[in-house]
Amino acid sequence: MQPTPTVSIAEMLRQIIILLTSAALSLQALPPLNVQVQGQLPRADGSDTRRPLRPLSFSPDGTFQVSIFEDLHFGENEEGPWGPEQDKLTVKVINEVLDKESAGLVVLNGDLITGENTFQHNSTAYINEMVAPMLERRLSWASTYGNHDYDVNISGALILERERRWRNSRTMSMVPGRDAGVSNYYLPVYPRKCCRRDCGSPELILWFFDSRGGNYFQEHRADGSAVPQPNWVDESVVRWFEETSAGLAAQYGRTIPSLAFVHIPTNASLTLQTEGGPGGGIDPNREPGINDDYNLAQQGQGWCANGTADGTCAYGGQDVPFMRAMAATQGLIGVFSGHDHGDTWCHRWDGLVPGMAVAGTGAALCFGQHSGYGGYGDWVRGSRQVRLSLETLRERKWEAETWIRLETGNVVGAVTLNATYGTDVYPATPNDKTYCTTC
Ligand SMILES: *[C@@H]1O[C@H](CO)[C@@H](O)[C@H](O)[C@H]1NC(C)=O
Ligand SMILES: *[C@@H]1O[C@H](CO)[C@@H](O)[C@H](O)[C@H]1NC(C)=O
Ligand SMILES: *[C@@H]1O[C@H](CO)[C@@H](O)[C@H](O)[C@H]1NC(C)=O
Ligand SMILES: *[C@@H]1O[C@H](CO)[C@@H](O)[C@H](O)[C@H]1NC(C)=O
Ligand SMILES: *[C@@H]1O[C@H](CO)[C@@H](O)[C@H](O)[C@H]1NC(C)=O
Repeated sequence: MQPTPTVSIAEMLRQIIILLTSAALSLQALPPLNVQVQGQLPRADGSDTRRPLRPLSFSPDGTFQVSIFEDLHFGENEEGPWGPEQDKLTVKVINEVLDKESAGLVVLNGDLITGENTFQHNSTAYINEMVAPMLERRLSWASTYGNHDYDVNISGALILERERRWRNSRTMSMVPGRDAGVSNYYLPVYPRKCCRRDCGSPELILWFFDSRGGNYFQEHRADGSAVPQPNWVDESVVRWFEETSAGLAAQYGRTIPSLAFVHIPTNASLTLQTEGGPGGGIDPNREPGINDDYNLAQQGQGWCANGTADGTCAYGGQDVPFMRAMAATQGLIGVFSGHDHGDTWCHRWDGLVPGMAVAGTGAALCFGQHSGYGGYGDWVRGSRQVRLSLETLRERKWEAETWIRLETGNVVGAVTLNATYGTDVYPATPNDKTYCTTC
């Protein structure tokens, strides 16, 4: 007997449902950060803001790694010829590093763009080039803004707006007000992949601070000159940090270990560089790294204590509240800065060194590595890596491994930031240079 038409329609419907279900399942199975194929098509400029990102989490192997790029300085000499050439090399640096490392998060630690050179109509367009390596690898990133990200034609707020076109950006602004700057926020890191609602308790907190500087956007004095913006972490941000971190400790009933990122280092780094430790300064085997920016430039540099920046004062001391807050933070493993392209060491901030306003409590103060071909200096470009272990943190050992991956592929300055950092002996870091030969 011939099958009746009804049976064959039912069978067709069944097949269609199976097809649709498997198509839906295969869509669901796609990695969460795929901006190319998931859901609707991305916008013409590649931007995508549809679904929020999954919170950060440790890898299945129990580690979490941050790759820090600092002082990328995109957008110099934009009408050419050498500016676009050096930006191409900068993108190559990011690609070389990310190919070799297992980043769980990319941090862009300030001076993303050299804002005093860029035009108002497209000053943040450089973000597109900068984030392409992360989009290609489905990585997310989080930024702090630096003094060069603030100028007459650019601002942290505009960069944030541009970044937020991609869901891969985790940058936020949690403290309102003109004095706060923009990139002040925190990101919790959970022990394993979780959905938005039920993540349990974070095992690590990443704090991001805006040390501001540069000039205010589209503001001019009567004589037409730009209006300088203070170059330290504002007290309103310090208060927000103290309240928020106390709130987190109360909510979870324990100290959650943390890392902090801020573009400009504090005066404590200067004291450690010039006077710290027996014999003073940076020991090439105990604090391996390049130490060419001597004396380093710190928050409050060039400002007077009364808040004027007229070239009469070397340093105004306005970073003292921020230093106090950092020193008072239990479980803070390290504070990571850029700004001084020629410094790449980590120094343990423990106790009171002569000249220091605030005694340290064991956090490491670290520089990264100049990552961009823009900005001053020809020190070999690279990126500091920081890796944490869930097991170690759960033993209440507030430690991290860190090293610098160079664009050459080599690794230098591999150390453990632990209780004996500063006495442990490591190979010294060679002071290598690289150049843009087509610039
Ligand atoms: C911005 O505009 C300038 C001048 O029109 C141009 O030379 C430059 O390439 C543009 N930059 C970007 C990133 O689009
Ligand atoms: C700011 O941008 C405008 C318009 O894009 C340009 O004419 C001006 O030269 C820029 N200013 C600076 C300081 O680069
Ligand atoms: C800043 O550092 C310098 C150099 O170590 C030191 O002389 C000065 O007292 C420090 N000031 C503050 C407020 O930390
Ligand atoms: C601020 O202090 C500096 C240095 O002490 C001084 O030269 C300047 O006149 C002061 N400015 C004001 C507005 O008080
Ligand atoms: C710190 O790390 C170094 C290098 O891995 C190691 O030799 C040293 O024993 C560690 N110190 C502590 C207190 O664990």
